[in-house]
Amino acid sequence: MKPNTKNLEYFFNPKSIAVVGASRSEGKIGNTIFGVLVKNFRGKVYPVNPKADRILGRRCYPSVLDTPDVDLVVVAVPAVAVPKVMEEVVEKGTKAAVIITSGFGEIGNHALEERVKRIITGKVRVIGPNCLGVYDSSSKVDTMFLPEERLKRPVEGPVAFISQSGAFGSVMMDAIGEEGIGVSKFMSIGNKIDVDEIDLMKYLEEDEKTGSIAIYLEGTEDGKKLMKVGKEVSKKKPVVCLKAGKSKKGTEAVSSHTGSMAGSARVYSAAFRQSGIIEAKTTEELFDFAKALAYQEPTGGRRIMIVTDGGGFGIVATDQAEKEGFDLVELDKKSKEILRKCVPEYAIIKNPIDLTGDADSERYRKTLDLLCRNERIDGIVCIVLLQITTLGEDIVPILVKISRKYRKPMTFCATGGKYTLEKTRELEKEGLPVYPTPERAVKAMSALVKRGEWLRKVL
Ligand code: COA
Repeated sequence: MKPNTKNLEYFFNPKSIAVVGASRSEGKIGNTIFGVLVKNFRGKVYPVNPKADRILGRRCYPSVLDTPDVDLVVVAVPAVAVPKVMEEVVEKGTKAAVIITSGFGEIGNHALEERVKRIITGKVRVIGPNCLGVYDSSSKVDTMFLPEERLKRPVEGPVAFISQSGAFGSVMMDAIGEEGIGVSKFMSIGNKIDVDEIDLMKYLEEDEKTGSIAIYLEGTEDGKKLMKVGKEVSKKKPVVCLKAGKSKKGTEAVSSHTGSMAGSARVYSAAFRQSGIIEAKTTEELFDFAKALAYQEPTGGRRIMIVTDGGGFGIVATDQAEKEGFDLVELDKKSKEILRKCVPEYAIIKNPIDLTGDADSERYRKTLDLLCRNERIDGIVCIVLLQITTLGEDIVPILVKISRKYRKPMTFCATGGKYTLEKTRELEKEGLPVYPTPERAVKAMSALVKRGEWLRKVL
């Protein structure tokens, strides 16, 4: 079966949204969703609740059938009330609905889930049930029922994130929002009675705002389809996936969480490899990889150069680079001679290059300029320890300029406290992937290497 992308744009760019179950009580889920939409969504929002006349000052409608035309319906009523609401949504002719409500297949209530499925199939696209729904950083569709003061929304950016777990997804949104990673869209898909990760992956392939796709997956119903579509999408956009539920107990937990079949971890890993999906082994890797892949070009090979102003960091990075199977190239004689003229005699110009503790921005600029022009180097891991006083504020524009000028695959490491974090945000705002440890910067480079290898194989 082909992925179904019909009408998915209504989840992300609706002109109007109705919230069914927009409660009068502050703190209730339907009230929070409605409040956040009223505040941020760029289109019209209507509350639906037969018991209320007005909610948050807006006229309330007894049923979705009474609202003006709506493109998207968000359902936050108890499970028993969902079938009737969905019948009305179908009657209304609405194109898309998010069902937030829990209490379906994940607790063994398959009959109710099947009933809803029969009502909606072929008539309205549905995300959920048992999910958080959608967050679009541009249109501000936001059905996450966590208030903004508790869950920071990420800024606009190139990473799209599909999550089978609402909690995992939303909390990661909060965390990466704080880290400054820009997100295009977030989709929590829950029990997937209609829209699944495969449909969304295919949709995101054509989404101009999305540069890379990160997926938290507990299980897929159709492995062959995932592989086929993963392969198609990966040719155009990088896809990173964290498969959860790999251990014995983890597998059991998956079945009682979203009701998915967890499947064998090895089978998933092999399927990802064959379809060009880059597997993340940890939560950290999922976003580290997605960030590097969204911001940087894939490498043309495994020849990596490490540059730093802190010797120890260079060594730690080198150890990790060896684990990743990188070829830690040395500069040719001529390049060495040129570099030698740009750096003091105590600087080390073997890989890892150590510009030493009195490096200034100019030393970095000249070195990186030379390395970026060198065709024998496929990627650079640049570790800048910003604590040293010789390094001026101009290091930020210099790194940004070099990265943009050469488009050489680069990952960066800046370790430290407040000042370093401020500079990290500045660099990331300009599209440079920066990591707090050398190991993470090197691993992120490995995602660029793997992507390059995959593309050379299939294109
Ligand atoms: N149409 C419109 N509104 C309706 C309705 C219907 N058919 N039936 C009930 N309502 C109204 C209620 O009157 C109430 O409004 P009020 O507070 O102003 O009286 C509101 O909708 C909510 O209904 P209520 O019975 O109070 O339910 P609730 O808010 O306690 O719980 C859910 C509803 C959806 C939040 C709950 O069933 C649920 O599923 N919670 C878990 C959600 C979750 O975790 N999802 C997965 C995330 S990963």
